[in-house]
Amino acid sequence: KLLIIDFGSQVTKLIARRVRESGVYSEVHPFNKVDASFISEFAPKAIILSGGPSSVTGTGTPRADDAVWTYGVPVLGICYGQQTMCAQLGGAVESSEEQEFGRAFVDTSGDSPLFEGLSDREEVWMSHGDRVSKLPEGFEVIGVSPNAPFAAIADEARAYYGVQFHPEVVHTPSGAAMLRNFTHKIAGFQGDWTMASFKGEMIQAIKDQVGDGQVICGLSGGVDSSVAAVLIHEAIGDQLTCVYVDTGMMRKGESDQVTALFRDHYDINLIHVDAGDQFLTLLKGVKDPEKKRKIIGGTFIDIFEAEAKKIGGAKFLAQGTLYPDVIESVSFDGGPSVTIKSHHNVGGLPERMDLELVEPLRELFKDEVRALGRELGLHSDFVERHPFPGPGLAIRCPGEITKSRLDILREADAVYLDQIKKHGLYNDIWQAFAVLLPVQTVGVMGDQRTYDFVLALRAVTSTDGMTADYYPYSHEFLGETATRIINEVRGVNRVVYDVTSKPPGTIEWE
Ligand code: XMP
Repeated sequence: KLLIIDFGSQVTKLIARRVRESGVYSEVHPFNKVDASFISEFAPKAIILSGGPSSVTGTGTPRADDAVWTYGVPVLGICYGQQTMCAQLGGAVESSEEQEFGRAFVDTSGDSPLFEGLSDREEVWMSHGDRVSKLPEGFEVIGVSPNAPFAAIADEARAYYGVQFHPEVVHTPSGAAMLRNFTHKIAGFQGDWTMASFKGEMIQAIKDQVGDGQVICGLSGGVDSSVAAVLIHEAIGDQLTCVYVDTGMMRKGESDQVTALFRDHYDINLIHVDAGDQFLTLLKGVKDPEKKRKIIGGTFIDIFEAEAKKIGGAKFLAQGTLYPDVIESVSFDGGPSVTIKSHHNVGGLPERMDLELVEPLRELFKDEVRALGRELGLHSDFVERHPFPGPGLAIRCPGEITKSRLDILREADAVYLDQIKKHGLYNDIWQAFAVLLPVQTVGVMGDQRTYDFVLALRAVTSTDGMTADYYPYSHEFLGETATRIINEVRGVNRVVYDVTSKPPGTIEWE
């Protein structure tokens, strides 16, 4: 396995992800935890030093433990990692006046194995203030850019490499290939690590953490909580109890699917709380989107807490938190400290109930969670699911929510999703849903005048939900879908398509 020593860069986890993608198992550990005994116990076959916000020229800034240099395995230093490598091995680093941020081109035409199979000039992403000014003995330059005479350096004899740019980010198009060269060509990894082995390791880690304690898990039916629940169930079986709170704001058939899959198929302890009426009563007369969110979030937590207390004795709360949900900051005064910002429905619960968190997906990105779900045998209907917001259909029903408007929306949404699936478009789309507007318009059906609601359709492509583009359906698809919805759903007589990107729009309408 490969050890990544973290100096606090915002993108350290991306190194782990790229390395995993090349079939090599890696773990990230903060620099001040890694000493000689840690390294000999971990027994890495190679080490990567991450970037970081500090300056090597400052006093008291982080360094890699000397054991890194005596252990005798290949080392790759990235950005700050390169600088500390040079400073520690007898070179020099200076704070330069010209900081370099953004795109640069590096001449990689030499014959270093790090750049094997790449073109002679590679686009890279630079982000640094300091730079190496003198190489340690044994090192030579293997890549230069106009502003960076030491863009890439190597001591091939010891297999020490350093790059001033960030190969782990997508803005370095061949970065994954460079990391792969490091792991496969230089460090001799086979690349035979898979999601299956990760699953095994996660199951062991969950057993170690939980022991014989009881775990509760809020199950929403979304990809993340579903994968977390099935994984944890594989690890500890009946020590896990899932709570599914039906807010009445779910899509058509959703609650049945969730109970059928988790209770009947997986035989997981599942408490299904049917709280639709309670939520509807509390939402009566409420039009403001943020108020809707607050009411739903708060009520959800109250119900979840009450159910958990009924079960009694739970020491752990499981959550499907993903890596992008986790914002980590590393501080260097008392060692790295991790602040978690988690925008989940059960936010605040662990403290309120004095529960310890079990978050097996913390290291993973969405597509990796999907791969893990497939590995666990979860049906593709669950694994490929579009994201669905905690407040559910409540924020897709602008204005006051009533049972009858929710029912119209549920039916229309089901027809729309059916159309998308029939046309094989579901997996090309990040999120697709219908919005029932609080506006009635005049129509004519048969010989009758109608005065019914307008339904807006939304479909976007995105990689992370932060930015999005509207999905370019064909006119035929849109026409056919509008016809089906108006024919099959009572209460809708007009359908429009939302062609706003994000920004300036958001994905949801509220
Ligand atoms: P927006 O509308 O902000 O949505 O572009 C970005 C992503 O977040 C989801 N979303 C929510 N998820 N609670 C959630 O759990 C919420 O209140 C909420 N609001 C938006 C949205 O569906 C999209 O995936």
